[in-house]
Formats: sequence, structure tokens, C-alpha cells
Amino acid sequence: MTQSNQSHYIQFEQTNKSEEDSSQFHFKSDVLTGLSQKRKSIPCKYLYDQRGSQLFDEICRTPEYYPTRTEIALLKEHAEEIASLMGLGAHLIEFGSGSSIKVRILLDAATKLESYIPVDISRHHLMQAASNIAKDYPKLKVWPITTDFTQPFQLPNNARDGCNVGFFPGSTIGNFTSDEAKAFLVNSAKIVQPGGSMIIGVDLKKDHKILNAAYNDKKGVTSSFSLNLLRRINREIGGNFDAKRFRHEALYNAKMGRMEIFLVSLDQQSVRVNGHTFNFKSGERIHTENSHKYEIGEFQNIARASGFSPLKVWVDHKSLFSIHYLRA
Ligand code: AVJ
Repeated sequence: MTQSNQSHYIQFEQTNKSEEDSSQFHFKSDVLTGLSQKRKSIPCKYLYDQRGSQLFDEICRTPEYYPTRTEIALLKEHAEEIASLMGLGAHLIEFGSGSSIKVRILLDAATKLESYIPVDISRHHLMQAASNIAKDYPKLKVWPITTDFTQPFQLPNNARDGCNVGFFPGSTIGNFTSDEAKAFLVNSAKIVQPGGSMIIGVDLKKDHKILNAAYNDKKGVTSSFSLNLLRRINREIGGNFDAKRFRHEALYNAKMGRMEIFLVSLDQQSVRVNGHTFNFKSGERIHTENSHKYEIGEFQNIARASGFSPLKVWVDHKSLFSIHYLRA
């Protein structure tokens, strides 16, 4: 279904209700499975419902959360160079596009882009962001895809001619273990195809105090973001979590090189979810997220092991954050 008007193009997906239903189905089964484990855990992608996505945007504005503003400054500083590496007529595919804010820096610099393909699991947020981009860049073809970008997906036909550039900012790759990051890169190499490239934001290893502060902001936005998962479970799959009886915990695990985020039960309690009972001891945790940090060489090795050549890396002067340009 193509919907265009005189001022801009946006290629809407066909309305696919069953896709929403199946992601709903996965949410329920993933939560029930995760809570049945000896060490309880829930996949972090479920943090990003509509409210979760809003709260994440708010995290990005807290003074402690340096990654977003550092990455934006890096993109602005090097936009011209990045655009020239992308070349003319490229298709820019954003993995986990969220509000599509950072990509505007690239869209402003790369004026000869053919299309922008934002890919996100949160349909509502994606469609809103894609419409705004289409309005603001009237010459650009915008083709939003609602999917889990860790799985293979089809690009529109015109984006198969060997000048695809993937964009994966925000150190979202840090949510994966290094094996999962490799699998993601192998999958994305297939999507962008040989000769295509990936632009990836990667958070660097650094002083633990800076890391711990970034995931424990004083205003408590990160805490609300974590706890929102319990409200989502209550609302969408019939749970009776009392969010006031859990607290957010985020700690740097130096051995694993990652931030680990949990919801900690404040007391002994039982919770019902979709007809099942889950018992919590006082202090028992649900693992909700990992955020891996990589030194430059460490990440380049992962890229090489996944079929990419590292072409270029940009780092801010405080060595907080890196942006890698990789060729498939
Ligand atoms: C969106 C995965 C990059 O790991 O820094 C931020 C998520 N969670 N604060 C990160 C997050 C809590 C964020 N990523």
C-alpha cells in the first residue's frame, strides 16, 4: 500500500494485525518462561513499549546518561566525513530507530541518499517518527519496517543494489553478549550485502563511577523505565505486580565488561501472571538488561570475526563513546 501526497513520500507497510498479535504472544510466553527460571530474567526488548520508549528518551536527557549527547556530538562533528563514506544514492537502514533523532544529523549531511528505512519493534513510535522524517525530508523515500531487527528481514526491492548502509547508534549493540553481537553483525552483513556498510555506536569501557551514575540517575528516570516493565506485564498479560515492592538496580560487572540491570524484590512475595504464580524471596532479582562496554580493538575484533573490515572509528576527547564505520 503506497500512500503519498504532493509534499513527501512514505511507504507504509501493509497493516498486519497478526504481527502485533504474534509479538504479544511472544511477550507472554517469554515472560512466563523467564519468570520460571531459577535466575529470573525477561528479554530487554520488552522494556520498549510506548511508555518505555518515552521513558528511554527521557533517560537520554538526564545529566548522568552521557552516551546520547556524546554520540550526537560525534555525529555532528564528523557528519561530512561519514556522508562521504556512505557515497551517493545509498539506502540508509536504521536498526531500532526509536524516535529517529540521531539519523537526522546524517540525513542533513548526506543529501544524496536514496531512501531511509527505519526498522523498529515498537510500531506506534516507528510510524510517528517515520511520518515526521518524511515530512521534513520531502525528497527522501521513507520505508518503515516493524520487526525484531535481530531476525532476518526483507528490504524493499530497490534497496538491493549494493549501496546499503546500516545505522545502529546508541550502543544498542551493548544489549547483546559478544556472541549475540557477532550473530547480529553476521545478519546485518547479509542485509547490507557485500560492499555495504554499518555505522555503529559503541559505548566504551571507562571509570565505573561514570558507568554506575549513568544507569542510576538521581531523578529516578532509569528506575521508572525498569519498573515500567512490571506495569506492562500487568496491563498486557494480566499480572498483579506491585511495582512499589520492587526496586531498580544497575551495577557494573567488571569481569563481564557490562552494566547489569535488575528488578529486585523488596520482600518475600508471590505474584500472579496470566494464571501462574511466581514466588520471590526478599532480594531476589529479575535480570532485565545487560549493557556491554567495549574497547576499540575489542569491538573491531568482533566486527572482523563477523565479516566486516573496520574502516574508521571516531571517539570523543574524553574517550566516553565510539562510532565505528565497518565495511561488509
Ligand atoms: C538503549 C541499550 C543502549 O544500555 O545504555 C539505558 C538502555 N537502559 N539505561 C543502554 C538503557 C537503562 C541503553 N541502550
